[in-house]
Amino acid sequence: MINALRGMKDLLENDGKLYKFIIDTCEAVVKNYGYEFCETPKLEETALFKRSVGQSSDIVGKEMYQFIDKGGNDVCLRPEGTAGVVRAFIENKFDRAGGVKRYFYHGSMFRYERPQRGRLREFHQFGVECFGESSVYEDASVILMLNEILNRLKIKTTLKINSLGDSQCMPAYKEKLVKFVENNKENLCDDCLRRLDTNPIRILDCKSQSCQNILKDAPLITQNLNQICNDDFNKLQEILKANGVEFQIDPKLVRGLDYYCKTAFEFISDDIGSQSAVAGGGRYDKLCEYLDGKPTPAVGWAMGIERIMEILKQKESQNTRQGIYICALNPNLIDEIYKIAQTLRKRYITEISYEAKSPNKHLNIADKKGFEIFLCLGDDEFSQGQIWYKNLQTKDEKRISIANLEGEI
Ligand code: HAM
Repeated sequence: MINALRGMKDLLENDGKLYKFIIDTCEAVVKNYGYEFCETPKLEETALFKRSVGQSSDIVGKEMYQFIDKGGNDVCLRPEGTAGVVRAFIENKFDRAGGVKRYFYHGSMFRYERPQRGRLREFHQFGVECFGESSVYEDASVILMLNEILNRLKIKTTLKINSLGDSQCMPAYKEKLVKFVENNKENLCDDCLRRLDTNPIRILDCKSQSCQNILKDAPLITQNLNQICNDDFNKLQEILKANGVEFQIDPKLVRGLDYYCKTAFEFISDDIGSQSAVAGGGRYDKLCEYLDGKPTPAVGWAMGIERIMEILKQKESQNTRQGIYICALNPNLIDEIYKIAQTLRKRYITEISYEAKSPNKHLNIADKKGFEIFLCLGDDEFSQGQIWYKNLQTKDEKRISIANLEGEI
């Protein structure tokens, strides 16, 4: 028997429904902020990710699904969505056209990591990217959007924010940090010794205890920002507070991708073990330029769908049920329920069973398949122009009139 590859999962039955429910919730929110759907290829030139995510990142260094295709091209399954959207933005000359563009996307990402709870090799993200808007109000908007999505999904998280400075203040801060860390170089882990040369700020979020001990009195980015970055960071906090969003400032939050500047943030959950980040993002004003486009400010985030699914699965109360299951107890009534199903399908997801069997058997099927509403026609109900109704979420059940079915549902 051939099985799915390690770290890759099928999305079937309830998982499929849950996935769709999450995507629909995200879409409903981001569309209200003017974000439009886009899709980019899952396979791209390897150079795209090396130049954007960064040579020093774990993703590029260790985790890429990279190979030479039959035409001799060095290609790679996308480990994240931002680089591809930026490539498409530049390739379609939107960078030269000016103005603001807002996109959302969802789909598979691939990282060759060690699979564990909340960490897969093929996983799905829902993401947004905004191009051409340098105002910190947009940074706040993308965070508010994500916050609204998590609220609608009834997921409790902690928002952590930081500022990574810009090309003026960050180099000076890096120098300061390297000087500080070099005094204790002998206690750094191997990864951080490498980071000292490639991207020293990644040392800040190293999980190793010996590295964290060294960093206790390290200089903080937030105390080394220039005026512009500092003002923006303060404004961001002010907008979040004004909109009732709680947050923590985490000066060690640097994110695992090299393209960020200024705003960086993550939403963390306590419900999914060590892989606790459910979503993350930030500003990346230099990425367009790095990829040979016209300088274009940009900001965005991505959410890990499987991590959200895991949290929702732990919550019994979450109504992820959808659609109507309709059935009959007697073969003579199939024509009747067929007629009803055709009417319902104009507005609702409706599944019909053509087989007359016991109400309990039907009910079990409808329940297992995750339907919200169960409709069952028996001779007695039919003779009175009614049908049996049960809401499988609320457990509410009653007879309702067939003539006024839509009103009653
Ligand atoms: P990221 O933090 O690498 O950011 O990924 C975003 C989210 O994807 C994470 O918070 C996590 O929930 C999920 N995720 C990451 N790796 C895995 C994995 N191996 N298994 C399951 N879930 C995972 C980005 O990808 C950036 N492109 C976000 C962004 C968009 N920044 C600006 N625009």
